[in-house]
Amino acid sequence: MACQLLEGKKGIIFGALDHKSIAWKIAERAYEQGASFTLSNTPVALRFGEINRLSEKCHSEIIPADATNVSDLEHVFSRTMEIFGGKIDFVLHSIGMSMNVRKGRNYDDLDYDYFLKTIDVSAVSFHKMLQVAKKMDAINDWGSILALTYIAAQRTLVGYNDMADAKSLLESIARSFGYIYGREKNVRINTISQSPTKTTAGSAIKGMDGLVDFTDRMSPLGNATADECADFSVVLFSDLSRKVTMQNIYHDGGFSSMAMSLKAMTQYNKSLDEQV
Ligand SMILES: NC(=O)c1ccc[n+]([C@@H]2O[C@H](COP(=O)([O-])OP(=O)(O)OC[C@H]3O[C@@H](n4cnc5c(N)ncnc54)[C@H](O)[C@@H]3O)[C@@H](O)[C@H]2O)c1
Repeated sequence: MACQLLEGKKGIIFGALDHKSIAWKIAERAYEQGASFTLSNTPVALRFGEINRLSEKCHSEIIPADATNVSDLEHVFSRTMEIFGGKIDFVLHSIGMSMNVRKGRNYDDLDYDYFLKTIDVSAVSFHKMLQVAKKMDAINDWGSILALTYIAAQRTLVGYNDMADAKSLLESIARSFGYIYGREKNVRINTISQSPTKTTAGSAIKGMDGLVDFTDRMSPLGNATADECADFSVVLFSDLSRKVTMQNIYHDGGFSSMAMSLKAMTQYNKSLDEQV
């Protein structure tokens, strides 16, 4: 793509783990579109080392941080402002983790310490990020902050477990903080509700392969890929979406508006016939 939608924009991208990560694709696309940014992830994630390739490709410094730790976040914002010599324009929160999912604990048998960790890592970390950014006055007027979410916040999907609760809170934080940050600083905050995507976090969800196939068949445009999510994120970071804030925007090929498709109806009728 020849255009430079993010020319001169500076930001922070949280959550690129490996080349499959949605944040990785967003970083690549943002760089192609002229943005400069720092990358952040946990010290454990950084030890895998793959992010170094992204850092070299995008000429981005990596700043380690646990996103649940406020002083780590303060360091990420202050170091980023130091590198760029002032305020920044965009932030991506692409972070999610559930120990209940990882350990196979079902929703009616949750470990509550894990549950609180899920909420802290996957949702409250977004509030912490926003609060740190606002207190440090780190974001330029008309800056754009994005977090990634999933439709399990609105509709029950088997296997998504306590991450559904975390995503509901995440989306609510985008609205509640979006009002204050918009009113006081013209900073916009949105969430993108992305199709199921085979990444490290995505693959932890029970029945992921079946879910990806189901949503692909149910969506008139098919599932949205991580690359397509990157394209859309660039638009939301750009000045072309200046008046979009406090929104949860479905990026899912139309899945969120479907209840029954022609293909599903045909399959359903066939199965019924087979049972007779
Ligand atoms: N993959 C999907 O199907 C899908 C669909 C919709 C939304 N999402 C969301 O997209 C986001 C990115 O996930 P992904 O699918 O690219 O998987 P991923 O595993 O590549 O990314 C998750 C990231 O969260 C980071 N992380 C975990 N704990 C952290 C902490 N305490 N502090 C900082 N970072 C931490 C991990 O290191 C990793 O980089 C998540 O919010 C996820 O819920 C994913």
